[in-house]
Amino acid sequence: MSLSLQILMQELFPGEVFANTADFDTGIRQFLPRYDEILSVITRCLTSTSHRILELGCGTGELSLSILNRYPDAQVIAIDYSPRMLQFAQEKITVAGYKARWTGVEVDFGDWANHQEESDIGEEFDACVSSLAIHHLKDEMKLKLFQRICESLNEGGCFWNADPILPESPHLADVYKAVREEWTTQQGTSLTEIRPKTGNTTTYGHSSQDQLATLDAHLQMLTKAGFKTVVIPWKYYGLAVFGGWTRCNKP
Ligand SMILES: C[S@@+](CC[C@H](N)C(=O)[O-])C[C@H]1O[C@@H](n2cnc3c(N)ncnc32)[C@H](O)[C@@H]1O
Repeated sequence: MSLSLQILMQELFPGEVFANTADFDTGIRQFLPRYDEILSVITRCLTSTSHRILELGCGTGELSLSILNRYPDAQVIAIDYSPRMLQFAQEKITVAGYKARWTGVEVDFGDWANHQEESDIGEEFDACVSSLAIHHLKDEMKLKLFQRICESLNEGGCFWNADPILPESPHLADVYKAVREEWTTQQGTSLTEIRPKTGNTTTYGHSSQDQLATLDAHLQMLTKAGFKTVVIPWKYYGLAVFGGWTRCNKP
C-alpha cells in the first residue's frame, strides 16, 4: 500500500485534523480564517499576573508558544490526549528555548472534568485557555468542563476559549461556510486541495466530531458553571473567543 493511501485511511483522534502532524501549522492557517488573530486575542486577554496557566487541547503548541513569548514569567501546563500532537508541541517549545516553562501532559480533558485523570495536573491556576478543542465535547461535558475550570482557578482567575460556534440560522450557516471557503481561496488553495490531507475522524475518549453550540449557549454554560463575568472579546462570523473571570470585574 502506498504511504499516501495509508495516510488517507488513518483514523484520527477528533481535533488532530491532519493525518500528518507536520501539516497542521500550515493547514490550519489555510483552513480557518484568522487563526493567528485568534491566538493573539487569547494571549492578550491574559495579563502578566497570570503565572500558572492551564491549556486544554494544546495541539502543536502554537497557543502555548504565543503565551510564553509574551509573558516571560508564565508557566504553561498543556494537556492533550494525542501523543503525536504533544510530541510535536514539546519539540517546538524546546527549540524555542521554553522547555523549563512548559509541561505537556497526556490526558483527556473530559476525564479531567470528571476528576478521573491519572496524571496530577494540579489546581490553583491563574488562567485557563483553549483554542479549537472544546467544541469536540457534547454540551453536557462542556458544562462539566467549564465547572471544573472554574473550580481550579484562583479567585479572579480567567478562562479564554476560541471555538467555532453553531450558526444561529440556516442563512447564517451558509454565510459562515462561504466566508471559510473564501478565506481558503484567498490563501491560494481550496478545500478540495486540503481535504486529502485530513484523515477520517472517529470518536475517541470524550471527544467526537464537531459538537457545536451557539455562542449564547456557551455564555449560559459559563454563567451556570460559576463564572461571574462573561464576555466575548472577539467574533468573526462562525468563530468566537469568549470566556470570563471567576469574580465580577468592574469596568
Ligand atoms: C484543532 S486542534 C487545536 C490545537 C491548538 N489548540 C491550536 O489552536 O492550534 C484540537 C486539539 O485538541 C485535542 N483534543 C480534542 N479533544 C480532546 C480531549 N477530549 N482531551 C484532550 N485533548 C483533546 C486534539 O488532540 C488536538 O490536538
